[in-house]
Amino acid sequence: MRYIVVIGIFLTSLYGEIDTKWASNKNCEACHRAISKYWETSRHANSHFSKNILYKKSIEHMAMKNPQYLVDELKVKCAKCHNPRISKNIMSDSEKILLSMEDEGVQEEFAKVLNSEQMKHGINCIVCHNIEEIHLDKTKGSQGLEGVTFGTLGVMFGPFKDAHSPHHKSQYKEYFLDESPTLCFTCHYSHTNEHGLEVYSTGKEYESVASKQGCKVCHMSPKKEGVASEFAMLGEKPKIRMVRDHRFASVNNSTILQDYLEINVTKQDNNLLIVLHNKAPHSIPTGYGLREVVFGVEFYNGSQKLDQKIERLTTLWHDEKGKPTLPFLATKKEKDTRIAPQGTQHYTYAIPNGAKRVEYRLSYRFIGEEMAKMIGLSDPFFTKEYKVKTESIEF
Ligand code: HEC
Ligand code: HEC
Ligand code: HEC
Ligand code: HEC
Ligand code: HEC
Repeated sequence: MRYIVVIGIFLTSLYGEIDTKWASNKNCEACHRAISKYWETSRHANSHFSKNILYKKSIEHMAMKNPQYLVDELKVKCAKCHNPRISKNIMSDSEKILLSMEDEGVQEEFAKVLNSEQMKHGINCIVCHNIEEIHLDKTKGSQGLEGVTFGTLGVMFGPFKDAHSPHHKSQYKEYFLDESPTLCFTCHYSHTNEHGLEVYSTGKEYESVASKQGCKVCHMSPKKEGVASEFAMLGEKPKIRMVRDHRFASVNNSTILQDYLEINVTKQDNNLLIVLHNKAPHSIPTGYGLREVVFGVEFYNGSQKLDQKIERLTTLWHDEKGKPTLPFLATKKEKDTRIAPQGTQHYTYAIPNGAKRVEYRLSYRFIGEEMAKMIGLSDPFFTKEYKVKTESIEF
């Protein structure tokens, strides 16, 4: 009996509450100001359900469609990658039963775990910089916190062999220095839903091409001269080092799509030829399965619109009834019109008689309109079109 109790405790309390000294970037900001400010613009800073309405609504929609799931149970499961410093990463069957019976004690316990300071700060500094070892088994896909071993709190692992900080211990780890995507792959390699369908596969896409450039050069920045910390040890000056920006560039905080998605529009006889070239080593769009690149062409004679075409580069997910659904609930990938890693797609449109001008626009959406409506999402951050490029060409 005692044996069982011990196992139970072990399984449900693998990770402890984190000392507030390390729980958020607020305690790093004084010395790592630039890094901290950049990180705050990234989706990594918004990965907790209280800061991300799309994530929250997705969880609620899943629980509504599948009454065997509890909202809190999903929040614990998804935290593996979305909030890896969760202090209790397993919900036992008995806890699940108590929760579904609205047991106040267990409700309160999970409310505390799921809303702690360290959870709210998402994929923060000590998620990446307290990883002592990465043991990712790619055959299982990304495992988030299960693919890493966290080190002693207060030790910051990083790219330098000679860093000295008055606030914390520092230790070099190769996965910060080299170009390899190992660190990013602990969450971004791939993930399969309960129906065996792959819902994220950025890492697999990357491995399908010969690229060895890693992820940091585009999603952080090329290495450049700067400082790791604006403060140094007493009596010393900050060292000038080769560093990168912590922006984890996405469409909303950078020009990454303008920089790496090429569009070429030409007229040939009575046709308009459009070539889209993806310079990224993963599909565009990649990652979360409802992203959409929208490409629209309108033909005009003066101010009269003669014709228009719209292409949506995205993935369409279907449930067992053949209805559109969220990636996590899907049993089938119905359609995939994304651009392959480093791939090119061609489109040809007949130019209507009398057309004097064509206008095209390339834009991006975090989630397509139909799916947003289905889960009741109206926050413009997610539903608006992010303009990438528009141009008007006279014939
Ligand atoms: C601990 C897991 C984890 C690690 C490690 C991680 N990420 Fe992420 N990343 C996520 C999650 C989860 C999100 C989505 C957050 C959200 O939008 O709520 C995300 C979002 C992003 C985004 C923005 C995507 C968007 O929605 O616009 C980029 C870009 C990104 N990560 C790049 C990287 C790079 C580059 C690395 C390696 C240096 C990395 N990530 C390491 C989990 C991780
Ligand atoms: C998603 C993972 C991730 C997160 C979150 C993250 N970092 Fe980093 N950090 C990295 C990587 C990767 C490097 C190595 C960059 C390079 O090649 O120079 C790095 C480098 C650093 C460096 C060395 C200077 C440099 O630019 O190389 C410092 C200092 C640092 N990070 C502090 C922080 C702080 C403070 C936070 C929170 C505000 C933070 N990091 C959040 C991944 C992360
Ligand atoms: C009192 C100032 C101070 C505070 C607060 C501070 N750091 Fe640092 N940190 C430094 C200094 C100084 C360095 C070394 C810079 C150098 O050598 O160029 C450093 C280096 C680092 C490195 C690089 C380590 C390596 O070996 O490559 C990381 C990562 C880091 N800090 C993360 C953090 C995180 C995360 C926090 C907040 C929990 C934090 N720091 C809080 C001053 C500070
Ligand atoms: C050559 C530049 C380049 C490299 C290298 C690169 N990416 Fe990207 N990445 C992009 C572009 C451009 C986008 C925006 C289009 C999109 O969302 O697909 C993007 C988007 C993403 C997104 C989704 C952002 C969103 O808004 O949903 C994730 C996640 C991501 N990349 C992860 C990675 C990871 C992990 C690696 C390394 C294995 C990597 N990227 C390497 C250019 C790059
Ligand atoms: C294996 C790691 C992993 C697990 C487990 C995971 N996610 Fe994610 N999730 C990611 C990564 C990485 C991204 C960023 C990809 C991107 O933005 O393109 C992401 C992005 C998302 C986004 C988009 C957020 C945004 O800001 O646009 C939603 C919604 C989401 N996940 C829902 C979930 C739900 C719900 C669960 C649990 C059922 C879950 N995820 C479990 C890794 C994971």
